[in-house]
Amino acid sequence: MKLIFDTDPGIDDAMALLYLSKLPEIDLLGITTVVGNADIATTTRNALFLRQQFGISAPVIRGAGETLDGVSKPEPVIVHGVNGLGDIDIPAVSEDDLQPGTASQFIIDTLRANPGEVTIIAVGRMTNLALALRQDPAIAGFAKQVIIMGGAFGYAGRSGNITPAAEANIHGDPVAADEIFAANWKVVVVGLDVTHDIILTSDYFATLAAEAGANGELLAQMSDHYARFYLDIMGLAGVVGHDLLAVTYLLRPDWFETREGPIVVVTEGITVGQTIQMPSSRKGGHPSWAGRPAQLICIAVQADEVLQHYRQTL
Ligand code: BDR
Ligand code: CA
Repeated sequence: MKLIFDTDPGIDDAMALLYLSKLPEIDLLGITTVVGNADIATTTRNALFLRQQFGISAPVIRGAGETLDGVSKPEPVIVHGVNGLGDIDIPAVSEDDLQPGTASQFIIDTLRANPGEVTIIAVGRMTNLALALRQDPAIAGFAKQVIIMGGAFGYAGRSGNITPAAEANIHGDPVAADEIFAANWKVVVVGLDVTHDIILTSDYFATLAAEAGANGELLAQMSDHYARFYLDIMGLAGVVGHDLLAVTYLLRPDWFETREGPIVVVTEGITVGQTIQMPSSRKGGHPSWAGRPAQLICIAVQADEVLQHYRQTL
């Protein structure tokens, strides 16, 4: 399975990358970075560090440091720490390993070179994808599918995390996300509706630390910071495995229940970043959805299978 991983590492991004590195069926073509959990210099440094640490051969390509409307505002450091990886010690990493060029150009070139074969998993703000689409709208016809971690559609009472209405990856660049949903490619959204079913407890991390070698221990260390955030701010006894679940969808879509319909993102006002789907089964509605392709959102997941598969894979 040919894959581009678009990411803002990020503790749960690191969890997803380690998962990818252990899956022989994945042909990772590139890791593209974006501002989000930290600024672009930090998320790119983290991607280079994780690539080296996890023994990944795919190149890292630096992406957008600003949203489409020119704002460069990372998420608060309370979530992923000042260094984006839970403030563990990170050795100096050489930028010589960075592949020259921009993420958006890499996405365009890779899709065009592999028509119909490449999946993009995007687990940060969708700025790189939107820039690629603006530059070359025809690439939508070249992608196999785009799997997004982002959004919240009200299933299981799940609304936003960065605000009561919006999930962080969408809220970080709502215009970009809206353009991704409007484009004519197959998008699957793995949002808070399902990611909040994937809770990694301290016992679970202890098992990873004991059974998944040095990198299992590294994830356990990073997760301390993340777990404090979830407990203090969200009242959850464990860490939510947002980004790794987008990888699971690629492997095992049969573990998910989905709903089809066009999606719109609210791009201004108090609910900015809110994601709203009009189910295809319903007729009529607001003209905002008219002319948009039906996309899939995940509304339920077999969480036990996911957690078991992740642990076994690592
Ligand atoms: C998403 O926001 C980021 O903090 C995480 O890495 C994840 O991609 C969850 O809302
Ligand atoms: Ca992320």
